[in-house]
Amino acid sequence: MVIKSVDGKEIPVEMYKSRMVQKMNLIPASERLKAIREAGFNTFLLKTKDVFLDMLTDSGVNAMSDHQYAALMDADDAYAGSQTFYDFAAAVKDVMGYDHVMNVHQGRAAEHLLSKVFSKPGGVVITNYHFTTTKAHIELTGQSACLELYADEALKTKSTHPFKGNMDLQKVQAAIKKHGKEKVGYIRMEATTNLLGGQPFSMENLKAVRKICDQNGILLVIDGSLMAENAYLIIQREKGYDKKTVAEIVKEMCSLADLFYMSGRKNTCVRGGFIATNHKNLFEQLEPWLPVYEGFFTYGGMSLREIGAMAVGLREMVDPSVAGASVEQIKYFVEKLESLGIPCVTPPGGLACHIDAKKFLPNVPKEGYIAGAMVAAIHIASGVRGMERGTISMDRDAKGHDVYADLELARIAVPRRVYSISHIEYIISRLQWLFKNRELVGGLKFVSEPPVLRFFLGKLTDLNGWGQKLAEAFRKDFGDKW
Ligand code: F0G
Repeated sequence: MVIKSVDGKEIPVEMYKSRMVQKMNLIPASERLKAIREAGFNTFLLKTKDVFLDMLTDSGVNAMSDHQYAALMDADDAYAGSQTFYDFAAAVKDVMGYDHVMNVHQGRAAEHLLSKVFSKPGGVVITNYHFTTTKAHIELTGQSACLELYADEALKTKSTHPFKGNMDLQKVQAAIKKHGKEKVGYIRMEATTNLLGGQPFSMENLKAVRKICDQNGILLVIDGSLMAENAYLIIQREKGYDKKTVAEIVKEMCSLADLFYMSGRKNTCVRGGFIATNHKNLFEQLEPWLPVYEGFFTYGGMSLREIGAMAVGLREMVDPSVAGASVEQIKYFVEKLESLGIPCVTPPGGLACHIDAKKFLPNVPKEGYIAGAMVAAIHIASGVRGMERGTISMDRDAKGHDVYADLELARIAVPRRVYSISHIEYIISRLQWLFKNRELVGGLKFVSEPPVLRFFLGKLTDLNGWGQKLAEAFRKDFGDKW
């Protein structure tokens, strides 16, 4: 909930209280440098004992509610036929309107099954923007290319466009004409677009994409991993939707898709995921593969306890104080950084505060992995763990060359209902310090690099030992304590 103070300032007030807490640890800058060096300048490889605020992701690290914990205890463990699964299916029907649902072990497992069953040989899958695992699964079928047909505005980090996650409809029409409608496996709309900076699409755009799908007999798939935030932003930004509820918008979005999937690790605050649809024939094409790759159809690779908590989480996610919990903190975060001259992706979206690393570190060349250098520097300056969303997150091309990302973003995720505004103030103050000392930050180079999704396990090193200089500058200003 956002309240206005007497001076007109907006304060996002947390609509929850902490009744169980976890102690955190903040190690000094010299130890943070040691830790990030041991991690190969890759924040994925840091150990949590060396991390203060874990803002790597909003995935699988959200706070569950008291009712979700109760559901964990209440779940019915059974290999087959568990009542907990049927209760979950009822929640999917109530919240999303779908008749058929299958659990999978997480979002990318849904992507695996959908790519396997619905991509076409020599064809394409059209999307408003790719996500790392989505693209990998589409391409791993060896059948289809992943075509991203976003509007040009999407790549402008500084923008006032309310819906940078929109699909460019003309580009979609042209692509269908070029490739032939029979070659389009499906059109995928990601709500909100993770790698564009958590930017939403509008309902108007989704409806227009639905129309194109109808005209051409193409399936429409929604990746709803962050859909509660997309719905919340539609209320704030789309004409005609300001009086609607998150629940109504979620239902309307779902009604437009042939197939829906989500990672349950974000909006429903647990681990796992699911695929849902109202088309029995589509469901039946996926169904035989479920026990091969995931598990029997009443658990799909998830624990039933988490399926129980997911059912509660689904019903809770359409509460505006839940759907808006991270959106409002992110808005506060981004607006404050922008007021300090620190370049962020605007307008603020869902998921995270995304800092435009190209603008923050103009001296680091693209060959030095700008966003990677920036998140390593953030850890040294603050102990906060962010995530690289730039060239390191792109795999090399067939000739082994780097594929330079459209955007070099340092992502500082805001898990739902975990951190308070004082934590956000802490990271803002450390980013302010880093911005002042940014000329000390240099590039990175790979030391070891896996062939797929290299950002997870790749190791890098700092060119000319800039990490040491940064840690020393920090110590000069703040001493060796924090
Ligand atoms: N789709 C979107 C839009 C996502 O953001 C993610 C995961 C996935 C699919 C894959 O789901 O992790 O459950 O297999 N995003 C996480 C992140 C990893 O940190 O942004 P998963």
